[in-house]
Amino acid sequence: MPATMTALFGGSGPGWVRREVPVPEPGPGEVLVRARAGALNNADASMLAAADPTTGGTGETYQAGFEFAGEVAGVGAGVRGLVTGQRVMGTTPGNFAQYVLTDHRHVLPVPDGLALEEACALPTGLLTEHGALMAGGFTPGMSVLITGATSSIGLIGVQIAKTLGAAGIIATTRSTGKRDLLKRAGADTVVITGGNDLTAAVLDATGGQGADVVLDHVGGQTFADCLRATRIDGAVVNIGRLDTARSSIDLDALSYRHLRLRGVSFGFTRAAELGAVIANAGDQLLPAVADGRIRPLIDTTLSFDAADEAAERLRSHRAHGKIVLSVP
Ligand SMILES: NC(=O)c1ccc[n+]([C@@H]2O[C@H](COP(=O)([O-])OP(=O)(O)OC[C@H]3O[C@@H](n4cnc5c(N)ncnc54)[C@H](OP(=O)(O)O)[C@@H]3O)[C@@H](O)[C@H]2O)c1
Repeated sequence: MPATMTALFGGSGPGWVRREVPVPEPGPGEVLVRARAGALNNADASMLAAADPTTGGTGETYQAGFEFAGEVAGVGAGVRGLVTGQRVMGTTPGNFAQYVLTDHRHVLPVPDGLALEEACALPTGLLTEHGALMAGGFTPGMSVLITGATSSIGLIGVQIAKTLGAAGIIATTRSTGKRDLLKRAGADTVVITGGNDLTAAVLDATGGQGADVVLDHVGGQTFADCLRATRIDGAVVNIGRLDTARSSIDLDALSYRHLRLRGVSFGFTRAAELGAVIANAGDQLLPAVADGRIRPLIDTTLSFDAADEAAERLRSHRAHGKIVLSVP
């Protein structure tokens, strides 16, 4: 084991900079992973912007990254079921580094045949979309509406809903050109938002009843429109605010339809709870990951040396799917 490693840090400019830092040692309950790849998330862009001192940010430096895949390099006391060399994927802040220290409950085994550069792009989507479906009370045979479904995690949500036996999956995008992408992922109905009435389209696709569970990645007016598109006693779970975090909702729709509104933000979830969400997702979804029913859409894979390019592509919102950094 080397004494030091290369890691990417934010907080000194618009992009990440490479730094040599000590390789951490796993304490009780922790696992050390030799990371081979990490995937970028929207949160990476907002953290870079918030810390960038050249544009009024805090200037506080931090080790970047949220999700990764690699091989177990060491385990701390009390860790069972993980062995050195085992391929794992996981989520933890600060994983854009050659070695990643994480809670052993926050990794899942990588099925054979799945490249680590693909696996690294799965943990956030798996745990978020599955966790949100469970928060919405999803059971097989229910219908699901997924807004912003072409987002990286939304596409995984469509595949998860299909895998778990959703009766009908309605997916939204603003782009006509992405209809086939959503169909291939498993959507039964694609609604192109913008010119079309989302509520009417969902009621039409569900025999006038509305969807049982809504996974909303968009917020704003879309979140408000989802309420009348949800079945009586159904649930709307807000996951993301791709449009805006402010929404003006119709409380009549909420009350008359006996709806449940939930929000999830797994980056702000306590370690043990997050571990339970990840374990549940793993139990139910790893067979589908292994046989290819659930796969991330990869936009680009770049080296650590091209981290600036990766950050710029993330900020551009031109990526279709995940941007992956391969770790040296
Ligand atoms: N709750 C959690 O724990 C959690 C975890 C991870 C991510 N998130 C959130 O989930 C959301 C999706 O994340 P991601 O990384 O998967 O996103 P992403 O891949 O960057 O999403 C890109 C897609 O979002 C759609 N989009 C962009 N701006 C939009 C707008 N104003 N209105 C409607 N759609 C818009 C576009 O789809 P079209 O062009 O096809 O319309 C675009 O292709 C983000 O808000 C993220 O912060 C939440």
